[in-house]
Amino acid sequence: MAKQAKFSSRIGVIAATVGSAVGLGNVWRFPAEVQSGGGAVFLLVYIICIFLLGIPVMTAEMALGRGGDSDAVGAFRNVTPRRRGWWMVGALAILSSYLILSFYMVVAGWTFEYLVQSVTGDLYSPVHGQGEEAFLDRMGSYITGTYRPIVMTLFMVAANLFVLLKGVSGGIEKVSNVMMPVLFLLLIVFCGVSLSLPGAGAGLEFFLRPDFSALTPLTVVEALGQSFFSLSLAMGIILTYSSYYPSSTRLTRTAVTVSLLDLLVALMMGVIIFPAVMTFGLSDSNLAGSSLVFVTLPEIFSQMQGTRIWSSLFFLLLTVAAFTSTISLAEVSVAFMQRRGGLSRSKACMAVILPLALLSPACSLSVGPWSGYTICGMTLFDFLDNVTTNIMLPVGGILMCIYLGWVAPKSFLDGQLTNFGAIRSRVVGIIHFIVKWIAPVLIALILVSGFI
Ligand code: PFF
Repeated sequence: MAKQAKFSSRIGVIAATVGSAVGLGNVWRFPAEVQSGGGAVFLLVYIICIFLLGIPVMTAEMALGRGGDSDAVGAFRNVTPRRRGWWMVGALAILSSYLILSFYMVVAGWTFEYLVQSVTGDLYSPVHGQGEEAFLDRMGSYITGTYRPIVMTLFMVAANLFVLLKGVSGGIEKVSNVMMPVLFLLLIVFCGVSLSLPGAGAGLEFFLRPDFSALTPLTVVEALGQSFFSLSLAMGIILTYSSYYPSSTRLTRTAVTVSLLDLLVALMMGVIIFPAVMTFGLSDSNLAGSSLVFVTLPEIFSQMQGTRIWSSLFFLLLTVAAFTSTISLAEVSVAFMQRRGGLSRSKACMAVILPLALLSPACSLSVGPWSGYTICGMTLFDFLDNVTTNIMLPVGGILMCIYLGWVAPKSFLDGQLTNFGAIRSRVVGIIHFIVKWIAPVLIALILVSGFI
């Protein structure tokens, strides 16, 4: 079997993993969740979830990945060769990440379309009318269209193939090393712009001053789900990337760094969005889901000086965030095809990416011309979104925690977190306890709430 590829530097390890974690979850989903979860109180619960659940589970998944030294299926087999059935948890993760990728790619295509239209100025052409209504119409007619969204989705599919073919260090790591600094730079610029708006105070108040009367059990469950989604947990992603970590990487420190940077991006998005929304007095209802970035923000940009520049920079930010996440979602399957299927890197990339050239356009069409065909009353797009994030992700998360807490020997975790005694780690016991007792129960809450 070919030797496992590795990231070549510490910066590369962090950049690639942050690139995976920071995605549409931070930029798009998080502000919408804050809005519907009652503002700062959601943020507070979310931060607790990151520390209580996110960081420990990420550390444990990293241990499984690096110690397992393989793809998501192979890792379980290598860590506990005698407990045969557990590889299925890895298989579930691979399937979930692939299904997520199929519709995530479509949204990545939307972000790219908006980038192109911002650069050309088409998005703000007076021909299409002005105001929120006009932007809502434009988004609706764009995403339900037949050809254009498919072309953009296929462009993102091809861009993924291009990077993946270049390999772990020469492709994923290099792209992340360039794109992550760009992303943070853009975020800083936008924070500056937003904070200079007249409504900055009111926006920050909503985002940062908790109103505890808005706290409900649902807030907690939503925050838990968001932390899992945002940190790319239980999808085989962290597991696969950490199999590329050098043996000297300090896992706990890496998990803390990645999680805090992911949280920082979410916080910066809040600092960007809420002052802007307060300043331009847009209706709350439009802060939900996809309309936040594709309707509310264009409307805000249209009222600012330098519309096209700000809009282009913002959609560049969004495209970068989505792109590095799609790469990580795809790499889970590529690694599997390479290790289990014994394929060369290029064949594995083809085998993973080419089917997406059919599956993702099908997802795109399902919100447009094919919206009449439904599964359980939902379009293919919504069905995949719901099944993966509400069922497969939590089920995979519970099983992975049970495996790491109860099935894999504690000495395994200990060995990985201390780099086999080379460094000291005072947190092995805490992480083991959380993964064994707390995380499965909390993740079960996410699962149950999905059915209520
Ligand atoms: N963590 C990334 C995001 O927040 O967008 C990518 C991602 C990974 C999304 C896993 C969803 C998911 F289930």
